[in-house]
Amino acid sequence: MHPEDRAITSHLSIPSSFAPAEEDKTVLRIWGRQTLQGQVKISGAKNSALVVMAGTLLCADDCLLRNVPSLVDVARMGEILTALGVKLKRQGNTLAVNASHIGESKAPYELVSQLRASFFVIGPLLARLGAARVPLPGGCAIGARPVDLHVRGLQAMGADVQIEHGTVHAYVKGGKRRLQGARIYLDCPSVGATETLMMAATLAEGETILENAAQEPEVVDLANFCRAMGAKIQGAGTNKIVITGVSKLHAADYSIIPDRIEAGTFLLAGAITQSEISLAPVIPDHLAAVIAKLRGMGADVVTDAPNQVRLIPAQKLVATDLKTLPFPGFPTDMQAPFMTLLTLSEGNSVITETVFENRMQHVAELNRMGADITVKGNLAIVRGVPRLSGAPVVATDLRASAALVLAGLAADGVTTIQQLQHLDRGYENLEAKLQGLGAKLKRVEAEPETADLPVQSLV
Ligand code: UD1
Repeated sequence: MHPEDRAITSHLSIPSSFAPAEEDKTVLRIWGRQTLQGQVKISGAKNSALVVMAGTLLCADDCLLRNVPSLVDVARMGEILTALGVKLKRQGNTLAVNASHIGESKAPYELVSQLRASFFVIGPLLARLGAARVPLPGGCAIGARPVDLHVRGLQAMGADVQIEHGTVHAYVKGGKRRLQGARIYLDCPSVGATETLMMAATLAEGETILENAAQEPEVVDLANFCRAMGAKIQGAGTNKIVITGVSKLHAADYSIIPDRIEAGTFLLAGAITQSEISLAPVIPDHLAAVIAKLRGMGADVVTDAPNQVRLIPAQKLVATDLKTLPFPGFPTDMQAPFMTLLTLSEGNSVITETVFENRMQHVAELNRMGADITVKGNLAIVRGVPRLSGAPVVATDLRASAALVLAGLAADGVTTIQQLQHLDRGYENLEAKLQGLGAKLKRVEAEPETADLPVQSLV
């Protein structure tokens, strides 16, 4: 290990822009059934930004990341990098990163437990320092989400990995500094495992082949960022990625892709309020599965410019079945928001969730607003209803909160959403963006009336 790499800098203070989010005591009040109009600016992709931030650990030179969204999850990743010795400076949506002096010291459990993506630092740390200690991320609201594929892949590349007291201790075996290239078949195309192993392989000795790799746009974005730092990666965006290790990476200036999940959510906001709205910047290919389903329901999406799409609403939405799948299939992160749209369609729809085992928690809240949804295991049967009615509801996870916002936009009367910390993890300026389109919504201090919720929603 290089002495410079061993040094843990004394720069452990957290920049003010990365201060931990306080517990959210506010609620979002939405007055439904307003027609929306206009254009909305789509932010940088949360999931790209998080992993690209982890990827900066691979390089000792300055990196500049642009189009980084201002989100609680991004702030948490910033805190984790800071704890590892990285210097960060944020100006607007640009993040200057210097990881010249990092240490393998453990990322704090309180931070890793709040952000699963922070476990992904294990790959770059191991590749750069030859050792890493990262707490296991633990359970999460949408399922067990293990990290066995990350661990098995790193072992195949010559890492010794032990799990002790909830922390993963990994080091390169045989006193060597560099991981060894390997041929790795992933049992399932995990986004995070593909990203961890791709980052680890950039600095390994020899060639690594990842088979059955994830093909998500965020994986391609990470590959492009690594390439901008001098990594040799081919095939990102297909199910076979080949990485030829190099001994060192260099400075890069990189811009994060637009967030396809945020864009998809705004398309649905247009469809559910029967409003014509434009979105830019977007990469229309990243939205293909969502656009196909919207067309199947009677709405349309037209491309006005290479990076701009417009939702043309349908007078009447018809039911459609959908199944979540790895990219290019229908994204699991759009399942909850799309379910809200299906509640107001004519006919019955069956939603099959195949990616995560416990991603139906929004159903109870949607039913409280008048939806008619039955869950059987990983299936949801949605019987279309003519209208939803505003109600106090509780967000249970990030995409569930987006589903409730959409329901509130379409519902009669007032909807009040609690537990906004979930929403703030992944949507930059959501209220301001919706207000700009003409929606009526406001974040306010919780009033006693919102405590009047059913017991089932509070546990
Ligand atoms: C990423 C996204 C998340 C998205 C998901 C699927 C980030 C920060 N998050 O999460 O928004 O919903 O992709 O598109 O990018 N699995 C294992 N073993 C492993 C890893 C995963 O069994 O070692 C399983 C998971 O439990 C899950 C499935 O694989 O059932 C897919 O998970 P994965 O693609 O890894 O999702 P994440 O990378 O955690």
